[in-house]
Amino acid sequence: MIGLGYVGLPLVVEACRAGLAVTGLDVDPSVVDRLREGSSHVDDVPDAVIAETLRHGFRPTIDAGCLDDADVVVICVPTPLDAEREPDLTAVRAASATIRDHLHSGMLVVLESTSYPGTTDTVVRSILEESGSIAGLDFHLAFSPERIDPGNPVWGLRNTPKIVGGFTPACTERAARFYGRIVDTVVRVSGTREAEMAKLLENTYRHVNIALVNEMAVFSHHLGIDLWEAIDAARTKPFGFAAFYPGPGVGGHCIPIDPNYLSSHLRSLGHEFRFVELAQEISNRMPDYVASRVADMLTTRGRSIQGAQILILGVTYKADIADDRETPARDLVRSLLKRGASVRAHDPMVRSFHVDGVEISMAADLDSALHDCDVAILVQAHSAYDLAVLARHAPLVFDTRGRMRGSNVERL
Ligand SMILES: NC(=O)c1ccc[n+]([C@@H]2O[C@H](COP(=O)([O-])OP(=O)(O)OC[C@H]3O[C@@H](n4cnc5c(N)ncnc54)[C@H](O)[C@@H]3O)[C@@H](O)[C@H]2O)c1
Repeated sequence: MIGLGYVGLPLVVEACRAGLAVTGLDVDPSVVDRLREGSSHVDDVPDAVIAETLRHGFRPTIDAGCLDDADVVVICVPTPLDAEREPDLTAVRAASATIRDHLHSGMLVVLESTSYPGTTDTVVRSILEESGSIAGLDFHLAFSPERIDPGNPVWGLRNTPKIVGGFTPACTERAARFYGRIVDTVVRVSGTREAEMAKLLENTYRHVNIALVNEMAVFSHHLGIDLWEAIDAARTKPFGFAAFYPGPGVGGHCIPIDPNYLSSHLRSLGHEFRFVELAQEISNRMPDYVASRVADMLTTRGRSIQGAQILILGVTYKADIADDRETPARDLVRSLLKRGASVRAHDPMVRSFHVDGVEISMAADLDSALHDCDVAILVQAHSAYDLAVLARHAPLVFDTRGRMRGSNVERL
């Protein structure tokens, strides 16, 4: 397994449980050292599970020599955006070059990192074939997207169907046999591009639908309509409707980033992907919209947001995880500070929170923080929060999740 992060580590665990001999290669020595000591840096993988995988023989290492003995290599390295918000495939290229130097006959190489259609073929294959070996003849090559949903207690790696698309039909079969040992259901598609596109379709679908309800939330407020109630009513339709909910903006490592891989790739080919660009624009406006609603909430009570004490509840990008990458809480804090508010935060999952290099004061005692603030903004409804207690103890609450009611509560 190359890359021992949010995607690679759960895969290591399931592969060990399936009885495979697993080595994990990472370029970050601190990740490897921590894992060797039995300590996990990924929310969904507790320390006890790392101990179990180490007992199963899992070997974390920074030594690429481990690839010499590997039958199967799975690439799970980051695919971020660069400073211009364009795809940055540096880690995929680096991992491919590492494999190239240890490629041997019969090896199966699978890319799991999310990227635009054609990456496995034009980027990974080109680098691997610099070794003189030919994909489909000397080694097998496939793409299999990771569909992990961090913090989801029901759908994990094993019971979520796994899509597999190979460079040749034989590559697909080989990869399907490998994943068949780790997951319950393998879904074969005809090529690597179809598998790559399936992942981007799933994430773009979420991105667009979240933006749709975010835009509806803004005008529903103006029209005096409770959108949350409308969504609950609409979801009683047993067919043709999937419920999405508005929120303070999109975050995390996938939804705000992956659709850009597709739109930017299409732009380079002279096509537009207008849905993605629109979704981005609408959801990016939400943190500032939340700040404006909080300002209005205070104004209608004869007060100003200037100098108001605001408490942010939950700074991660989604509930019940400790990951604050790309969290909309950051843009919300920026917008509140710009309006002259004073901001503190509380999050049962997070010890420290930084915005533009500045540490935001984290309240240790929730009750007194609620008591001391002018408005509490519920950004993430972590299950550790008792929402009824929050509503009782805070003078005013702005609820971006549509979960709370009360005379002192306003919902997005
Ligand atoms: N996090 C998610 O929920 C999620 C879900 C689906 C897909 N993905 C995709 O999976 C991929 C990995 O994401 P992640 O969240 O696991 O990233 P991560 O940052 O948690 O972990 C990546 C690991 O790869 C290591 N690494 C970087 N370059 C390397 C190299 N050349 N060789 C070896 N190791 C290297 C890093 O040190 C890090 O430990 C990305 O493409 C992401 O889009 C992530």
